[in-house]
Amino acid sequence: MDRIIVRGGRRLEGTVPVAGAKNAALPLMCASLLSDRPVTLRNVPHLGDIATLAGLLGHLGVAVGFDGHDPGGGHAGRVMTLTAGRIADTTAPYDMVRKMRASVLVLGPLVARCGAAKVSLPGGCAIGTRPVDLHVKALQALGAEVTLEGGYIHARAPAGLRAGEIVFPLVSVGATETALLAAAATEGTTRIVNAAREPEVQDLCRLLVAMGARIEGIGTAALSVEGRAALGGAVHDIVPDRIEAGTFAIAAAITGGDLTLAGASADDLRTLASTLKATGATVEAVAAGLRVVGPARPRGVDVMTEPFPGFPTDLQAQYMALMCVAEGASMITETIFENRFMHVPELARMGARITVHGGTALVRGVAGLRGAPVMATDLRASVSLVLAGLAAEGETVVNRVYHLDRGYEHLEAKLAAVGAEIVRMREAA
Ligand code: EPZ
Repeated sequence: MDRIIVRGGRRLEGTVPVAGAKNAALPLMCASLLSDRPVTLRNVPHLGDIATLAGLLGHLGVAVGFDGHDPGGGHAGRVMTLTAGRIADTTAPYDMVRKMRASVLVLGPLVARCGAAKVSLPGGCAIGTRPVDLHVKALQALGAEVTLEGGYIHARAPAGLRAGEIVFPLVSVGATETALLAAAATEGTTRIVNAAREPEVQDLCRLLVAMGARIEGIGTAALSVEGRAALGGAVHDIVPDRIEAGTFAIAAAITGGDLTLAGASADDLRTLASTLKATGATVEAVAAGLRVVGPARPRGVDVMTEPFPGFPTDLQAQYMALMCVAEGASMITETIFENRFMHVPELARMGARITVHGGTALVRGVAGLRGAPVMATDLRASVSLVLAGLAAEGETVVNRVYHLDRGYEHLEAKLAAVGAEIVRMREAA
């Protein structure tokens, strides 16, 4: 397996291009199942998870084509066209779903279009148990009959889904996306109560509108979806990846650097921006995107993860790396996932002082970290170790880099371009 080697102590300076959002691209790709017309996505990031989902959609009968870089639009990412002229299979097999939990997002579109779907239960994952009960409840509220058999979710609606009201007891990004995907292809008006408001959910709404659905309340917790049995094709630009941008913002802060995140949305990152300002960084919206100037040494500032627009759980690990070298202590509380502190023992190997109690980590800032060989079992935990390595004295070797490749496009190239001493060691074939 490849490894990434970082030599810390360099101040990062320059401009980093922000890719299209992975967590927007995945549900957008699944929306292609709802139409027999082509859906073209621009600014598609080059990532492992995208390839995994493209493989699953191909198995279901979707023709997936890449057009290389968009010549006219100035989009750095690739252009992907998905055409689901005919659904060849309504089963998402275990071997494909287990690789990536987001595969469960094919369930809603398949049952809406074909009246039946069979999707393997994703099972546990590194950051917690992560059930799919809310996805199932959303489809049941639209009249689907759902059973669990042999590790598979079977959803059936032989006479089609019926518009209805879906009330979520807690905010779930994925279940809101399942509800939207199913409702958009169902005649009548479906109301979604306590919907997730994440920018990626808003992006899915925009694509579904372009395909012919009518959606009110986009960006709020109360969505009203007027679906249509036959949706059309569309051409859609994927939103910039706020988590990638936020990761680079923290890279600027942790190295006392000065980075402009080209294409980043200041609005989507408002909570991180206010938190970084409290630590002593300067964060300003500029014409190109967002500029972040790190302080000589950050101050400890508490955070608690929450659904959007709160502090994102997907930036918790990276922010913890920053707090490891802060002046003073900080309390980091994770409220979304029950097991998202896998980075803690690894950061401790680099000299961090962290005590975890339940969902809260108390981080006592130290004057400096020291490089070490480290490894993590989740995407954001892995990148937090790269960030810690940027600030550490000496060499940090981050193992199991495939986690990073699932969610960060050309991470080491982007960091090296702004002054980091970072290389990838490829495993000999
Ligand atoms: C999405 O996961 C993201 N993934 C995650 O990003 C992100 O951490 C998460 O949202 C929260 O922002 C994608 O968009 C592909 P949830 P998702 O449903 O949709 C519970 C990354 O690093 N829940 O909003 O799976 C669940 O256990 C990844 O890029 C149920 O109880 O998250 C969690 O506690 C990791 N029942 C909470 O809801 C359900 O049916 C929120 O999860 C569904 C979820």
